[in-house]
Amino acid sequence: MSRTILEVKQLSKYFHRNRGIFSALNRRSDAIPAVDNVSFYLRENETMGLVGESGCGKTTVGRTILRLTRPTSGSIIFDGRDITRLSDSELRPLRKDMQFIFQDLDAGLNPKMRVQDILREAVSVFERLSDAEAAVKSRMLLDQVNLKYSKLSSYPSELSGGEKRRVGIARVLAVGAKMIVADEPTSALDVSIQAQVVNLLRDLQKQLGLSYLFISHDLQVVELMSHKVAVMYLGRIVEMGLTERIAGAARHPYTYILWSSLVDKHNLEAVQTGKVDRRAAWGVFDFERPASGCRFAPRCPVYERRGRPAECTDPANEPQLRDVGGGHQVACHFPLGS
Ligand SMILES: Nc1ncnc2c1ncn2[C@@H]1O[C@H](COP(=O)(O)OP(=O)(O)O)[C@@H](O)[C@H]1O
Ligand code: SF4
Ligand SMILES: [Mg+2]
Repeated sequence: MSRTILEVKQLSKYFHRNRGIFSALNRRSDAIPAVDNVSFYLRENETMGLVGESGCGKTTVGRTILRLTRPTSGSIIFDGRDITRLSDSELRPLRKDMQFIFQDLDAGLNPKMRVQDILREAVSVFERLSDAEAAVKSRMLLDQVNLKYSKLSSYPSELSGGEKRRVGIARVLAVGAKMIVADEPTSALDVSIQAQVVNLLRDLQKQLGLSYLFISHDLQVVELMSHKVAVMYLGRIVEMGLTERIAGAARHPYTYILWSSLVDKHNLEAVQTGKVDRRAAWGVFDFERPASGCRFAPRCPVYERRGRPAECTDPANEPQLRDVGGGHQVACHFPLGS
């Protein structure tokens, strides 16, 4: 079995609202638990998909594990080394190994620089190279991302969305990354181009043994890309396991609804047997109703169907991830199919 490249243990990241006089007067908690007690691992050559609605904390997980932002608590072990509390200067030599592909296609592409200069800069960050060596390496990178050499003289504004994404991927490869967090890498692209980028990322993984944390709200793309999937809800992972289990045999009501809202063919049986009433699923959401215990309770059709059991809203009994077999973990007191 391949080596573990990343291990994340009980990671939390809280953001603080402005601590003005009014928040003090209101006695409101000023901490936003963007990521709350998240644990997972990633092996070499493996992709973990990270899914969930906008605002659930996906990007914050990605930024925190790459130490682009400081964690509030927990630990991050990268390639056998605890990087949780490393200083910026201690992190610098590790930066080449772990890279971030930003959602924004223009991120990192200086509009005043031609592609050749963008790549030359990237290949020279961690290595001293002559101009000739940098030019050879830049061409090699273009080959790897299937871009024509003629694009070397283009400015970013002259590139299509798909080409910009490829140059962005080439920049990340230029430094020799082993682990890549790809944050919605296909969301700004046309559907036909999305497939090309997915295939490119998969080919590169095979060739280079890369590990990906693949963040996306597009579940079909996540299914294509990922060996395993973690589903987040309000800062927590509520279900995690092999992709086919998460997509086809979800045990958490939220995962089930997320997938069945897109891919109707899945889990028809559960709907037919009344395990989940999809139509009711989103209707019960009430932002004003405080969620204690299980955060999903205000939207959970199983909670409603079971007559609002006290376990689900017991503040002392927030559901924790439990193994339900085959490494499949679920945080729910009444998992589907049990
Ligand atoms: N720099 C920040 N300062 C304050 N709050 C933030 C910051 N970044 C993210 N958040 C908040 O953290 C939560 C998770 O955000 P994010 O990780 O961007 O979610 P996602 O990527 O799943 O859409 C949201 O409530 C968001 O408003
Ligand atoms: S613990 Fe209760 S409220 Fe939460 S997802 Fe499970 S059934 Fe629904
Ligand atoms: Mg995001």
